[in-house]
Amino acid sequence: MCGIIGYCGPRPAAPILIEGLKRLEYRGYDSAGICVADHEVLTVFKKKGKIAELRKVVPAKLPGCYGIGHTRWATHGEVNDINAHPHVDEKNDIAIVHNGIIENYTSLREKLEEEGHVFHTQTDSEVIAYLIADLYEGDLERAVKQAVQLLKGTYGIVCMHRNEPGLLIGARNGSPLVLGIGDDEMFLGSDVTAIIAHTKQVVYVEDGEVVAVRADGFITTDLRDRSVDKKVETITWELQEIEKEGFDHFMQKEIFEQSQTILRALQGRLDHENGTGKLDGLNMSKQELHSIERVKIFAAGTSYHAGLLASYLLENIARIPCTTELASELRYRNPLVERNTVYFAVSQSGETADTLYAMRELQRKGARVLGICNVVGSTIPRESDGGVYIHSGPEIAVASTKAFTSQLTAFYLFTLLMARMRHMSLDQGRVFIRHLESVPDLVSATLAKAGELKVLAKKYSVAQDFLFLGRGTNYPVALEGALKLKEISYIHAEGYSAAEIKHGPIALINEKTPSLFLVPNDSLRDKVISNMKEVKARKGKVIAISVEGDNEVADIADDVFAVPAADELIHPFLMVVPLQLLAYYCALELGRDVDQPRNLAKSVTVE
Ligand code: G6P
Repeated sequence: MCGIIGYCGPRPAAPILIEGLKRLEYRGYDSAGICVADHEVLTVFKKKGKIAELRKVVPAKLPGCYGIGHTRWATHGEVNDINAHPHVDEKNDIAIVHNGIIENYTSLREKLEEEGHVFHTQTDSEVIAYLIADLYEGDLERAVKQAVQLLKGTYGIVCMHRNEPGLLIGARNGSPLVLGIGDDEMFLGSDVTAIIAHTKQVVYVEDGEVVAVRADGFITTDLRDRSVDKKVETITWELQEIEKEGFDHFMQKEIFEQSQTILRALQGRLDHENGTGKLDGLNMSKQELHSIERVKIFAAGTSYHAGLLASYLLENIARIPCTTELASELRYRNPLVERNTVYFAVSQSGETADTLYAMRELQRKGARVLGICNVVGSTIPRESDGGVYIHSGPEIAVASTKAFTSQLTAFYLFTLLMARMRHMSLDQGRVFIRHLESVPDLVSATLAKAGELKVLAKKYSVAQDFLFLGRGTNYPVALEGALKLKEISYIHAEGYSAAEIKHGPIALINEKTPSLFLVPNDSLRDKVISNMKEVKARKGKVIAISVEGDNEVADIADDVFAVPAADELIHPFLMVVPLQLLAYYCALELGRDVDQPRNLAKSVTVE
């Protein structure tokens, strides 16, 4: 979703702002703009479309050493140049960039219009610039504090005034804002990717805080002017992790990274001697872990699918009742918080609004909520009661891949920990670990056959509709496969339990609608084969993702991709990789923008 960058320091601001915006592209956007100040004049450039369009209108040598920039993902008002940020007040004194949604902007705007102000955009954000200008009496920080107290909704704001050279004011409520500390220069960003090329020293701005930033320092206060002590943290990501490093797309790079990222998620978390998992970040004593009677998981998108898969693991293996729910539904159904229940909020970004707000509601009701997140320092891990970082490194492609397999890894570890505290024997625990440790190599072996999926994509990317079918732990994998395909190729795809096909989806079967079946060598294999035959009998095309050596499946299916033979426990890791690759190659075949699919955003910070 929208991205923010701000700069103040000795260097010309424009190139730094544009480079920062380029790094924020992955969040998803439809227009972009910058404002740079020089000799007490604010100059704004903004364009619909990609950063390349913006570059065309920004002069190569634009003077001015402080400024702000924004990538917009439209919520209020159509996608055009005017609605793009930064927004200025009528006198061009103040410029602001804003992430989030101002829920009471209509009433604020009407009031300002009654006073004679004339608005130029259809956005909710413009009202912020007008409000600050209205309240300004020579002190931008004060005006911002007064203005934000009139706002209802969410915001991450950075603003500047032409009469206060070199000063940026940042404020946050619900939309992330991070300060980057350089050598005599400062940065503000909506996430660390915007600033990591310049500094690794960061300070996370919290809700209700306002930060006044100049090249040589910053001061953080709350809305009542009380100063707030901030901790300077060091980003552990490396710059090259947000570069493509020879791959054509970030998604391709992230799919191929998975053997390493799964390994990273496992590192330091296996206790071989005791045949169990070690998850210190859960912040729970042995007694507390022992007393868990139920697990409830909530998330959105791909993270929801990882959570759904975890519910199979926890019930089957750890014998703990577990349910998984969409965070957006959980939040509004006044959930009951039961005793001895732990909740997991799963989120790659750690910022997804639906998941974050569901977490806060559960916490208000007294629940213990643990996070399974990737982005260190993001809001969910900071506000949760403990959790597991999956350490996948930055995931830049909008379609999530490596985060999914690492989220699974975290849940496998938690399952092992829970099972060992209950009925699982030491030997069984050690066998579980052995299987888990074999995953990275088996994933590598699966990736080595990517070329076969390229061929399949050539054949099947002409399809208008696709079915993805699996059972047991591979049912969530089927859902994930369908999500991947629709997200980046725009082919309509549905995921179903293979058993469910006769309750509806079979009506869709014809020669043009391929069905992709996940057929690992597990206890449900024969039943899935029967479902495949039902489709074949109706002249449907069948693609099977099976296990090497399964000739029966190969004989029935029109096309097969075989993953290496492995224990049933870890099949989901091997089954999902071909689906990610198939989606990727189909999108390439169709000439889609793989990393930034239309209308989607990486981190959905609005409801
Ligand atoms: C968006 C992204 C998806 C992601 C979902 C949840 O919809 O496009 O790729 O799975 O949000 O994101 P999270 O960061 O909470 O895992």
